[in-house]
Amino acid sequence: MPSTVIVGAQWGDEGKGKIVDLLAQHSDVVCRYQGGPNAGHTIVVGGETYKIRALPSGIVRGKPCVIGNGCVVDPEVLIGELDEFEHRGHSTEEVYVSGNAHLIMPWHVAIDGASERRLGKLAIGTTKRGIGPCYADKAMRLGIRVQDILDPKILRQKIEVALAEKNLWLERVYETEPFDLETVASQYESYAQRLRPYVADTSLYVDTALADGKVVLFEGAQATLLDLDHGTYPFVTSSNPVASNAATGVGIGPNRIDRVIGVAKAYVTRVGEGPFPTEMEEPWQSRVREIGHEYGTVTGRERRCGWLDLVALRYAVRVNGIGQLALTKLDVLSSFAELPVCTRYRLRDGSESPDFPAHQSDFHAAQPVFETLPGWQEPLDACAAMDDLPDAARRYVEFVERELGVEVTLVGTGADRERILSPLSLEAVARP
Ligand code: GDP
Ligand code: IMO
Ligand code: MG
Repeated sequence: MPSTVIVGAQWGDEGKGKIVDLLAQHSDVVCRYQGGPNAGHTIVVGGETYKIRALPSGIVRGKPCVIGNGCVVDPEVLIGELDEFEHRGHSTEEVYVSGNAHLIMPWHVAIDGASERRLGKLAIGTTKRGIGPCYADKAMRLGIRVQDILDPKILRQKIEVALAEKNLWLERVYETEPFDLETVASQYESYAQRLRPYVADTSLYVDTALADGKVVLFEGAQATLLDLDHGTYPFVTSSNPVASNAATGVGIGPNRIDRVIGVAKAYVTRVGEGPFPTEMEEPWQSRVREIGHEYGTVTGRERRCGWLDLVALRYAVRVNGIGQLALTKLDVLSSFAELPVCTRYRLRDGSESPDFPAHQSDFHAAQPVFETLPGWQEPLDACAAMDDLPDAARRYVEFVERELGVEVTLVGTGADRERILSPLSLEAVARP
């Protein structure tokens, strides 16, 4: 049975949550392998909307859900989500949190905010959820892990050691308020009591599930161009969203991953700072933002909107090993008469390339070369199958397939879970 990574192919918010939710119904386990509450994954079921930051999206379908060692966990956010799902009638009994995942502590959030303020015009535009400082402490071997909540004495001791250093930074470098040991220790002890039952050996759990022939989904958060190694550094997140990290981030061998499905919007959005070659001009920018409701799930910030960038997508296909693509939000393009699509970048020396530049200065200076495809200018509401798509919409999808050499197996035509088209049955996409 296949194990599949669902990975963001652009700058995030491609609709990964919706795709995971769709495939989860034919899967047995859903795992998050990196990131933390910087993610915001939306699932719309009839009149109900779920906005999920910490839990895998499989929770909506009642599937066993794993938060892998590669994630960073803000206990307050996770507990809030567990409470919310229980309140809405979903069991959280089969949520498993890796003891090796790192805990986001209040000083991580404080430092994230303070360092962004200090950077001023050079700020990354982070979600200010403490993600970067938490992963930095992990790499520095100063982090506090989920398993530390299993022993109140160890937890308190680690908080004390960390605070001795963090308070110095907060006061002397960032000139902000220090944290009180007793307050943090008692707050985290109460989180610990709530979270202890969920701590598990998730590597063993997933390995056993795979050995038993279960269908496992790995849900990426953030996306390829926000990847710490492969994204548009420094305007990236502090983890590795790329598909290969699903193995490290959950604790299985890379040979256990069978395939990778990329998720891309039919256009592009980006939240936060950083270069964005196909960024739209007005009035298109505002029109797409309004029609597509392009406001951040976590921060409510306006998302920057751009035309589809096939150079960047080609790169995402390469670095993730994407074998098929889910193209979401095609409906948002319905009102445009013409649709520019970027197929190459023009570089500083005047040459044109279909490949993503390897160096930042080339990328910063890259100019998009567009081909203009005809729009369809009719709503997609009535389309129940790929064949129902207007000719121009079908040609848009086929153009993407041809340029990337990858089949588009899912096309999103609306936010609701039902609004998806596929040349195959969803079961065949989930369990080929
Ligand atoms: P994620 O972070 O990749 O899971 O994506 P987000 O949930 O942050 O952002 C995607 C947004 O688009 C959400 O509000 C979804 O409900 C919505 N969405 C997903 N697929 C479609 C689609 O095909 N059409 C439309 N109009 N909205 C969609
Ligand atoms: P999902 O999973 C879009 C962006 C932030 C910022 C950069 C670094 O919903 O697709 P961080 O807080 O991670 O240190 O911020 O990354 N970013 C996202 N953009 N979708 C996300 O998640 C994002 N998570 C982080 O806006 O530019
Ligand atoms: Mg999102």
